[in-house]
Amino acid sequence: MKSEIIRLLKSSRDFLSGQDLSRQLGVSRTAVWKIIKQLQSEGYRIEAVQNRGYRLVESGDVMTAPELKSCITGNLIGRDIICFEKTDSTNARAKHLAEEGAGEGTLVVAESQNAGKGRRGRRWTSPPGTGIWMSLILRPDIPPSKASMLTLVAALGVSEGIEKAAGIRAEIKWPNDLVINGKKICGILTEMSTELDSIQYVVVGIGINVNMEQFPEELSSTATSLCLESGQRLSRGQILGAVARSFEHYYSEFLGKKDLAFLQKPYEERLANLGRPVTVMDPADSYSGICRGIDREGELLVEREDGRLCRVLSGEVSVRGIYGYV
Ligand code: BTN
Repeated sequence: MKSEIIRLLKSSRDFLSGQDLSRQLGVSRTAVWKIIKQLQSEGYRIEAVQNRGYRLVESGDVMTAPELKSCITGNLIGRDIICFEKTDSTNARAKHLAEEGAGEGTLVVAESQNAGKGRRGRRWTSPPGTGIWMSLILRPDIPPSKASMLTLVAALGVSEGIEKAAGIRAEIKWPNDLVINGKKICGILTEMSTELDSIQYVVVGIGINVNMEQFPEELSSTATSLCLESGQRLSRGQILGAVARSFEHYYSEFLGKKDLAFLQKPYEERLANLGRPVTVMDPADSYSGICRGIDREGELLVEREDGRLCRVLSGEVSVRGIYGYV
């Protein structure tokens, strides 16, 4: 109901009368008025004028379940939305919820995290009011060996979603970091639980730096935000809605096809490494070459100096000339 009112207010430039709202929603005018009051106290600027009704002046960039529901248009991602004002890590919450039976498409979001997890045991800085800290619960019918492909699906979905919502093109640093002007704006952490040879659930954790105006000194040379890069503050709800939509599109296709051949072209169009020198930091065999794209499994193709084409599944790839810190 709340998300319906938000949606209706957003879709109308003019005033909507209490009577119209109550008729469309099948509730009393007093019920509408109570919800409007709640929304105002949550940060929405809603003008209320006698004999004219209600008009949304500003959404206030709130990250509540009704607001996010009003921004999401797909059928799967965000079917259920669980929002925390503050939590340790949305990935930890999502894993817990998945263990308890939460369904495919459940979205867990936090305004801030005090133990946000990055890859390789790193911490992810997640202050309030500035970023999108979200985790998706998925239950794909694929073998565990293919789960790492979801990470590339997510990177493409997030990059495309950001571009659709904000007009900013973030490139992908294989497999799943998003960068703008050589600095990171998004990280993705995929975790999985398996049972025998099947996947019980996958949690795809996505952190997007949206409205930060500065970073702690230790991060300022490597991290940036959409706001710093575009010079304007952006609506996190709108970005999340577009990201959910793009991800859902590629995820559905992946579930049907079960490999990444369909995604090679759009992924490579956004691949920051393409045609550039990369160093594969494999403990057993560290080597350099030119990045030639990805294959249908999502492996990175690297052409070595002697002309051999190597496929990189895991192992760390650092990219010269993209990151200032590499
Ligand atoms: C990386 O190291 O690049 C991955 C960072 C992933 C951060 C996100 S923020 C939302 C979700 N919850 C977490 O604890 N981590 C992920």
